[in-house]
Amino acid sequence: MDKIIVRGGAELSGTIQIAGAKNACLALMPATLLSEEPLTLTNAPRLSDIATMGALLASLGVEVSRLQDGKVVALSSHALSSHVADYEIVRKMRASNLVLGPLLARTGQAVVSLPGGCAIGARPMDIHVTALEALGATIELREGYLHAEARGGLKGARIDMRFPSVGATENTMMAAVLAKGTTVIDNAAREPEIVDLAQCLVAMGAYIDGAGGPTITIEGVDRLHGATDAVVPDRIELGTYMLAPAIAGGSVDLIGGRIDLLGAFCEKLDAAGIDVTQTDTGLRVARRNGTVRAVDVITEVFPGFPTDLQAQMMALLCTADGKSVLEERIFENRFMHAPELIRMGARIDVHGGVAEVTGVPRLKGAPVMATDLRASVSLILAGLAAEGETVVNRVYHLDRGYERVEHKLGACGARIERVSE
Ligand code: EPZ
Repeated sequence: MDKIIVRGGAELSGTIQIAGAKNACLALMPATLLSEEPLTLTNAPRLSDIATMGALLASLGVEVSRLQDGKVVALSSHALSSHVADYEIVRKMRASNLVLGPLLARTGQAVVSLPGGCAIGARPMDIHVTALEALGATIELREGYLHAEARGGLKGARIDMRFPSVGATENTMMAAVLAKGTTVIDNAAREPEIVDLAQCLVAMGAYIDGAGGPTITIEGVDRLHGATDAVVPDRIELGTYMLAPAIAGGSVDLIGGRIDLLGAFCEKLDAAGIDVTQTDTGLRVARRNGTVRAVDVITEVFPGFPTDLQAQMMALLCTADGKSVLEERIFENRFMHAPELIRMGARIDVHGGVAEVTGVPRLKGAPVMATDLRASVSLILAGLAAEGETVVNRVYHLDRGYERVEHKLGACGARIERVSE
């Protein structure tokens, strides 16, 4: 099993190319199920989660090929052979549940394993089910699988989501584009991945209005055609690498970085004393005057502060001047990185969904354990500024969402290496 070793203390200087967004690509790939014609995705990230989605789609009869060094995903669903998303694949990656809506819309039936528990929270699918039932599907849970049917096809409806769930909005959009009549989704998710999916579906011939806002209106059509779509840059990878020079010192250029993708994150960096400058090719990040100030953070749905950057932000605040309060409002168990940061000498008090972080002058390297994707990269970021060596174990979590992290940070002067055992 691989581990990553970071020797702290080196200031960073250089450029990092931001890849396509994992969470956008994971929603775009199932859109192929909606048409017999080919769907080609460019600027695709090269991640294990993308490979898992490819394997799931292939198990349904989709032709999946990776081109141009893996940055292009070519998909064709002209000959689907199954409508069953097997537990063995779904348990590896919850986003597998994004085949439910498009399969149901295209074939009138879908059998999708419930993903089960997750390190960061219970993550039920009730909002997905309620929305698809509103579109006329019948859904039953049997032996851990959701059995969904819409023999006569789906029908447009008004859906008021009890929470702006990203996945439920994506599943509902992909179901509604082939439903008869008009669908209105109120309290929809507004994340950039939703806008990216809507753009792709419109390129396939769908009628969608309002994506990115709280209300999305969809006029169903009889069929969709093929398309080519570019995956939006990864705002979470971007935010992660913006924090690297903030934590380690120095200055880094993020190629392809866009401020509009980051919501409230940039305001918090500014308040902490971190400068973010627009450049011709993206963003440049550096400390304003060498110090980092404590700030309070509450995670929220977009355009609020992203929960997927909470762990990385905690790593920054471990050595900030003063006490910061971080409140996690999206997931009920997303402070698993705190005990590991404490092993590195951080001062963190966690009470339920609130963590109080009192800045210390310097962290100390230690062997630590990755527990989930974002927690793992927060430990690497903390290691960049720590005294001595930090050894991050179980980095398979990391490879799910970060392309070649040791190369990207190493190219900016970080002393980081991957060791395979
Ligand atoms: C997406 O997950 C992302 N994953 C997550 O990123 C991200 O943290 C999350 O959105 C929030 O931004 C992908 O896009 C593949 P939700 P998703 O449905 O769609 C509750 C990462 O690190 N909820 O918006 O699963 C749920 O339990 C990952 O890349 C219900 O209660 O998130 C959670 O508390 C981690 N019932 C909240 O809503 C439902 O039916 C937000 O979940 C659905 C969700």
